[in-house]
Amino acid sequence: MSERVIPLIDQRLGSLAARVPTTAIPATGLLGDTLGRPLRDLRISVTDRCNFRCSYCMPKSIFDKDYPYLPHSALLSFEEITRLARQFVAHGVQKIRLTGGEPLLRKNLEILIGQLATLRTVDGQPLDITLTTNGSLLERKAQALKAAGLQRVTVSLDGLDDAVFRAMNDVDFPVAEVLRGIEAAQAAGLGPIKVNMVVKRGTNEHEILPMARHFKGSGIVLRFIEYMDVGATNGWRMDEVLPSAEVVRRIHQELPLVQLDPSAPGETAERWGYADGSGEIGVISSVTQAFCGECNRARLTTEGQLYLCLFAAQGHDLRALVRGQASDPELASAIAAIWQGRNDRYSELRASLPPDAATGTRRAEMSYIGG
Ligand code: GTP
Ligand code: 5AD
Ligand code: SF4
Ligand code: SF4
Repeated sequence: MSERVIPLIDQRLGSLAARVPTTAIPATGLLGDTLGRPLRDLRISVTDRCNFRCSYCMPKSIFDKDYPYLPHSALLSFEEITRLARQFVAHGVQKIRLTGGEPLLRKNLEILIGQLATLRTVDGQPLDITLTTNGSLLERKAQALKAAGLQRVTVSLDGLDDAVFRAMNDVDFPVAEVLRGIEAAQAAGLGPIKVNMVVKRGTNEHEILPMARHFKGSGIVLRFIEYMDVGATNGWRMDEVLPSAEVVRRIHQELPLVQLDPSAPGETAERWGYADGSGEIGVISSVTQAFCGECNRARLTTEGQLYLCLFAAQGHDLRALVRGQASDPELASAIAAIWQGRNDRYSELRASLPPDAATGTRRAEMSYIGG
């Protein structure tokens, strides 16, 4: 038997029980956490698997053939996901993002999308339903996703140069197929499309300008993400972070930019428009300019753990309630009690926290918790 230590098991053992409070907390859409932040954005991970091995997310050395992915019985069913999502929506959620791993690897995802599309916000509006994908299966699936009720997609793309892209996904996947996926999404009307590029200094920083030129004027919003210290396996180093201010400076030198107002409270990206009116870009700066102040995002893992922060070490086990005897109002009360106790603001505290190794903290992986 292998003696290899498989570290990620730990994160799944470290869950907190979710309890139904003795006094009901009815869903009014007005829930706030300890910092007064509302609950607006629910990110649901539908699989912990991916067909890519981006080194900043699922490094090959850890996510190999022996990696203990979740067994099928652990996954929430579509009915369980929809039932939980309904309670979150009653508490004020307006946007649902399906993530992974790679969400398009989950079989029959269209059925889940169809179920979620029937939900209505507290104000009676349809939800903003979107999905983050690596684009590898998008060409094949775009039409069916749209028909099922998906409104838009965000595609991860770390460069246009085929060699750079193949090296970053680390499975030799060609960039042309992702670009065809983006075209298919555009043709299917899955817009406004966003493209997310994680920038690693020394790895793909020379792709910043080619990417900006390529998407300028296309109607697609390109966003540059600072490489983050998420999880415990990517070997993150501050010197590989290229600050967003530098990204903006480099683009502005060649393609003049003006700063735009936020389009929604608490959003991740700072928006910049091309001065010639040919579209906008965004920068997501979790490392150099934290945006926890208005963070309204909750994350539901593939196995039904509620995480209150992308950098949390533990989740709250909602699956036990869903598979137990809890009624819908009890589920809603349990979710409310958890959110009311939330004080997470990791990115703001990052610099002042002791190193995780010193405290024995193991943070959840992005492929498990959802991006
Ligand atoms: P839009 O509704 O399209 O604006 O999406 P979004 O920006 O809310 O979500 P998206 O998944 O596109 O986020 C882009 C990237 O920002 C993610 O892949 C993460 O790298 C990062 N990100 C998203 N949410 C958070 C967050 O709450 N905290 C931190 N630190 N980073 C986040
Ligand atoms: N830093 C920044 N973004 C990351 N993502 C995954 N890992 C990281 C990281 N370490 C984001 C990428 C990817 C999405 C699924 O999650 O944007 O496209
Ligand atoms: Fe897969 Fe996205 Fe993670 Fe890359 S960043 S390994 S595409 S889930
Ligand atoms: Fe929200 Fe945590 Fe990200 Fe801050 S670090 S924006 S609290 S998810």
